[in-house]
Amino acid sequence: MVAASATKTAASGPAASGIVLTFPPRFLWGVATAATQVEGHVLNEWTNFTARDGGHCRIACDSYHRYAEDIDWMTQLGVKACRMGIEWSRLQSAPYAPLNRSELERYDDLLGRLQTAVITPMVVLHHFSNPPWISSAGGWTSPATVPVFVDYVTRLAAALRHRVRIWNTFNEPDTYASCTYLLGEFPPFHKARLNSFRAVIRHMADAHRQVCRILRQAGSEQGPVEVGFSKNWTFFEPFHPASLWDRLIAAIGHTAFNRFVLRQFLGGDRKTSSTYLGLNYYGRVRFRNGRPLVPVAGLSRETLAGMGVICDDMFERHPPGMEVVVRHLSRRYRLPLYITEHGAASTDEDFRQRDLKENLTSLHRVIREGADVRGFFYWSLLDNFEWQFGYSKKFGLVEVDFADEKLPRRMKALGGVYRQVCRENSICCP
Ligand code: FCB
Repeated sequence: MVAASATKTAASGPAASGIVLTFPPRFLWGVATAATQVEGHVLNEWTNFTARDGGHCRIACDSYHRYAEDIDWMTQLGVKACRMGIEWSRLQSAPYAPLNRSELERYDDLLGRLQTAVITPMVVLHHFSNPPWISSAGGWTSPATVPVFVDYVTRLAAALRHRVRIWNTFNEPDTYASCTYLLGEFPPFHKARLNSFRAVIRHMADAHRQVCRILRQAGSEQGPVEVGFSKNWTFFEPFHPASLWDRLIAAIGHTAFNRFVLRQFLGGDRKTSSTYLGLNYYGRVRFRNGRPLVPVAGLSRETLAGMGVICDDMFERHPPGMEVVVRHLSRRYRLPLYITEHGAASTDEDFRQRDLKENLTSLHRVIREGADVRGFFYWSLLDNFEWQFGYSKKFGLVEVDFADEKLPRRMKALGGVYRQVCRENSICCP
């Protein structure tokens, strides 16, 4: 893989006198979304869910109807790729049923428009949602879900092989399994069911291996098929390195969420199923007296900043961690990587711009060192339905005004910055 480069520029304009960090040629700059978070009109376990801010996903960004407009926003951003979900519950009404023709045609039209816009889709097969008939049969705790999912993917691969080349099987199995069965945050809201957590991961890893084989066999008219899943990586650390209790909690977090999950999906010869590894990286969680020092645990950003814990509206930011985790995963698994999600939730656009530059600088360093990173997908194209938190977390490059029933979109300042990154294939460090 051709290395990235750094040059000092004497040009005028925004790059004047800064260091320009150039990414490898053909680096895939993209945006990411998920069906339940943007489409609206879904019939899955989230449909009747009310988030902490009172929001629900029944309309969301209405991308179900407005995907052509959303693709125009991608074109304005100048992205070359988009990571998007296909919602299983729209396509099958029962196990082993044929795919719903009109829903398939809608996705086909969407994918065709992306192709016309020269935007490569990375299609996510499972992103925190299931058809109701899967949930009522025990969801991913049941081994019977595996062959049913494999059947669905076999049908989908045959139907979309003329459109899709890059498949992303599961989004963040660790987040999904922990929020559903350990933390009680996602439907079906169970707590402390460690066996269920482990069963979900094992079944998803099994399904991943099987569908990777099927997708690779199906091939694609668009070129060589790429298949992988997306691992969320969080650094778990004690706030005071000397605290034994907090060290223990951090070690448990790391073992359950990072090590166990990676072993199930990529351990031993399992990794030969995947052609790449997707990494979703946001930052870290540090513990003090057993309490996670993050805004989503009820602490204010200001209080945390006073302790030196710099956060967006959800988690602690940790840009140096980007290169640490990419280096670790590249060396450990020797698979090409995509950063399938990174983003910050805040209404402070200066903060988000700094955060993006710091994380991309960190990523650039490790690419220059030789890590094979193929692309970066910003989370998210649009402000959207952020699961248990609703619409209050603003991750979009493009704003959506949810108070207006027309759901108008507007480019944000960060969108302008990202457009420049995509256009120039580089970032400029002050
Ligand atoms: C990730 C999820 C994505 C979104 C971002 C903020 O964990 O994959 O759907 O919620 O976090």
